[in-house]
Amino acid sequence: MEDMKEKYENFKEQVRSQADIVRVVSQYVDLKKKGGRYWGCCPFHGEKTPSFTVDEGKGLFHCFGCGVGGDVFTFVMKEENVTFPEALKFLANKFNIPIPEREKTPGEIARDKEAKEIYGANELAAQFFRSCLINTTYGHTGIAYLAGRGITREIIDQFGLGMAPPDFNKLHQALKKKGIREDIIVKAGLANRREKGGVYDKFRGRIMIPIRDARGRVVGFTGRILDKEASPAKYMNTGDTPWFHKGNILFGLDTALKAIRTHKQVVVVEGHMDAISLHAAGIDWSVASMGTAFTEKQAEMIKRLAPEVVFSFDSDSAGKNAALRAIPIAMSLGLKVKIMHVTDGKDPDDYVRKHGKTAFQKLIDGALPGIDYEVESTLAVYNTGDLAGKVEAVSHVLPFFLDCKSDIEVGERIRNLSRRLTIDEGLIQSEYRKILNKKRHEDYIPPVTVTRPKVANATEQAERHVIFALLAGISPKRSNYNIGEEIFTGEARKEIFAKLQEKPFTTPKEMAAGLFEVLSSDGASELTNILQLDLPTESLPVILADCLHQLQLAALEREFQQHSKLASEYEKAQNNEFLQELEICQRIKNEIKALSLNQAVNLQKGGNA
Ligand code: UTP
Ligand code: MN
Repeated sequence: MEDMKEKYENFKEQVRSQADIVRVVSQYVDLKKKGGRYWGCCPFHGEKTPSFTVDEGKGLFHCFGCGVGGDVFTFVMKEENVTFPEALKFLANKFNIPIPEREKTPGEIARDKEAKEIYGANELAAQFFRSCLINTTYGHTGIAYLAGRGITREIIDQFGLGMAPPDFNKLHQALKKKGIREDIIVKAGLANRREKGGVYDKFRGRIMIPIRDARGRVVGFTGRILDKEASPAKYMNTGDTPWFHKGNILFGLDTALKAIRTHKQVVVVEGHMDAISLHAAGIDWSVASMGTAFTEKQAEMIKRLAPEVVFSFDSDSAGKNAALRAIPIAMSLGLKVKIMHVTDGKDPDDYVRKHGKTAFQKLIDGALPGIDYEVESTLAVYNTGDLAGKVEAVSHVLPFFLDCKSDIEVGERIRNLSRRLTIDEGLIQSEYRKILNKKRHEDYIPPVTVTRPKVANATEQAERHVIFALLAGISPKRSNYNIGEEIFTGEARKEIFAKLQEKPFTTPKEMAAGLFEVLSSDGASELTNILQLDLPTESLPVILADCLHQLQLAALEREFQQHSKLASEYEKAQNNEFLQELEICQRIKNEIKALSLNQAVNLQKGGNA
């Protein structure tokens, strides 16, 4: 157990030292180096001029516009909307740092072993299907069919396409010869049990498309019938198993990974053949949702790789509905969402074969942003020729604006809507506010909480200086003041101070790094505010003493105000306790006086020394 803890600590340190903040942030923000820092537009609030900066040396980011900040982990937590352990794992994967494994339970060990056997059986089956396509006379029909769909040998190899023979026994017999147990073959979904005992192959007489997970393991298959009439089911898929669930997989992701990174975008189509065909045409950053509804899990997978998703579903009403359902799922994860439908032909496969890569790329470039698509689809439903239709259309369009990233965008959209429908802008605005209020009462959580930094007042600044000095390892003992949480006015600074007391750190660097791990989002942002300060190291002891003095005075002043307010309230209410309050006021006054005197003496001492 102890050993595990130590392993985890080492692992954390390894990730921290290797996860270069500039490299990580660059995947989300276009950074430019200027005067020792990197600058870019803040990903957490809408802006056109860069006020977001990364300090490579300190390993911190900070936005002077909205005040968010933190280290590489905080950045990933905010950007990916994940917890600290998840951010740690995310970065470890990104930088190929092995994650220390927890001791597994016997159940887990058994499951892992079985999963391995199933992946193994699938891999062998893929080889078998492939050999049937390439090396048998029966396979010629398959090759010819694929060629007719524009699929060359190169693409066959890339996707590992194959063919299932028409027989009932060939596959499972071949697998058994290779030492695969019957129960594994059945569990993998490659064969079904017969009632009277024994098994028969599930996939027969079909073009076989292996489905790989992002790690390239064959988790299942889909088989397309050559001749439409031969079977009622055009496609046959591996059934849901603990190892294979369509909603957890994006077909083609393993081959698309590299292109996704360079294009910073994922194109999602419905069908396997659409994805294959797009890859063949050179649109190789596309994947297929495999004919099922787009899931949150799939959105998460995309979010890890690229900031934008383009849905290119079929042009029929099913495809349009699928797009409308996919938009909020992808947007809620913070993905930029665009929608396109091919203009000619049924699906992307038809289109790209007819018109080629450039034409398809043009459609991608012209894809509608998710909210525009929602608005257009909604307006198309209502008769906006008359007032009743307009009112109805507006009430159905406005909820989509709740997903806008900024108030500016909402304003612009409302303006456009008002022009489009010739309805007074103010009326639409007040309607929108109603929806907003209602939503707030129900379950409204703002997508990103952005706190606008106020210009720090003298007290706030002094509090920041105190924390800065403590972080630099300056001991408060050398000044005559005690520090307690009560001297801090801001919640974030109170929190930083409290955490600082909780955990002893040996070096200032370790201290700052360790703090980000335990601070709230607001606390982390305030800490980067503090770390932006530029105070001369040699003056820190004096600064600390001076600020503590100032803060203690301010705290006493606050206390004085409180009691004097209470005293006058009691007096008005003819409550005798006001005398007691006055007494307390006097005592505080004396304390303030003594403190000021003390300061003067200290200054003199300092001056003499
Ligand atoms: P489509 O009917 O649009 O097929 O189904 P398609 O992709 O255009 O296929 P081709 O071009 O005729 O070969 C869309 C997707 O729905 C799933 C498949 O993933 C398919 O790609 N589907 C469809 C099935 O799983 N089973 C079926 O019987 C039909
Ligand atoms: Mn098709």
